Amino acid sequence: MRVLVTGGAGFIGSHSVEALLAEGHEPVVIDDLSTGHARNLTPGVRLIRASILDARALAEAIAGCETVLHLAAIVSVPLSLERPLDCHAVNATGSLQVLEAAHRAGVRRVVQASSAAVYGEVEPPIGEFAPLVPLSPYGLQKRMAEEYGRLYGLHHGLEVISLRYFNVYGPRQDPRSPYSGVLSRFADALARGEPTVIFGDGQQTRDFVFVGDVARANLLALTAPGSFAGEAFNLGAGRAISVLEAHAAIRAAVARESDTARPGGAPAHLPLRHEPARSGDIRHSLARVDAARERLGWQARVPFGEGISRTVHHAIGTPVDPASGTRD
Ligand SMILES: NC(=O)c1ccc[n+]([C@@H]2O[C@H](COP(=O)([O-])OP(=O)(O)OC[C@H]3O[C@@H](n4cnc5c(N)ncnc54)[C@H](O)[C@@H]3O)[C@@H](O)[C@H]2O)c1
Repeated sequence: MRVLVTGGAGFIGSHSVEALLAEGHEPVVIDDLSTGHARNLTPGVRLIRASILDARALAEAIAGCETVLHLAAIVSVPLSLERPLDCHAVNATGSLQVLEAAHRAGVRRVVQASSAAVYGEVEPPIGEFAPLVPLSPYGLQKRMAEEYGRLYGLHHGLEVISLRYFNVYGPRQDPRSPYSGVLSRFADALARGEPTVIFGDGQQTRDFVFVGDVARANLLALTAPGSFAGEAFNLGAGRAISVLEAHAAIRAAVARESDTARPGGAPAHLPLRHEPARSGDIRHSLARVDAARERLGWQARVPFGEGISRTVHHAIGTPVDPASGTRD
């Protein structure tokens, strides 16, 4: 199956491309490389370096594709507050462009990345039928993309599946931006022996799901039998972990990994600083994941400890690119 992967050179995208290749599919990537990197892609994968807002490039990329995995986005809640119009253009209008291009090209199914941010502050565990009251433009833009997806199903018979990822972590997540996921920032700082910062008391909890599990879910959603019409599924591990607990797990993994890399070498002193909680940060987040299990046959498999070990192993073993400040 030929699959267009928008944002395929990014964190989740590049793992998804690998999962597609491993199953014998043919991924084609469109990515403007604004946060992704060509080096994330397996050599030989066709990369069209263009924005999803470039209708001509998108039409060229999508030609001959049976399905689309739409991941391209400006992935940041704070940035969506600072630059709502730019984020709207890519996350909402861009998603609409992808749906329209898919419809025109006769694509059968689009799987698109949504987010737990569509819910806002909801009492966990959060099921798919919880109220959708996003607290940020980012969450609202994801919600709009879901709704457009539903309408393309209704009016054009395009099968659209929206996957509401919770907190995805793992190798290749960019740690250097102030908007990065918290675990990649911890892993990066602790691997360098630099201070880490926790916003608030660290007792806030998240549902952390390993990127390999998310890539597998993307693949299952692209290939699941039956027909879909605008459904949305939560993707989480179904386990609440506090930020402090995650920090301790990463610190322990860094100590183990540093000892393996330099036997006898004590890990550097790793100071931890608390700063005031960030406004808009929700306190607790936890997914109900029954729907993805029942309809897609998916559930997270990688235990948190193992996912952290793999993330830290990558952070320690891969040098930082001085130009971009990121690791491969
Ligand atoms: N990482 C998470 O925890 C998380 C949680 C919920 C949802 N998501 C969603 O998953 C998807 C992938 O996120 P990620 O974490 O891999 O982030 P990422 O920044 O690594 O990936 C986004 C990719 O999209 C590309 N891109 C951005 N704007 C583009 C445009 N206009 N045209 C073409 N390409 C463009 C970037 O270069 C990058 O490669 C996003 O839709 C994001 O909203 C991620």
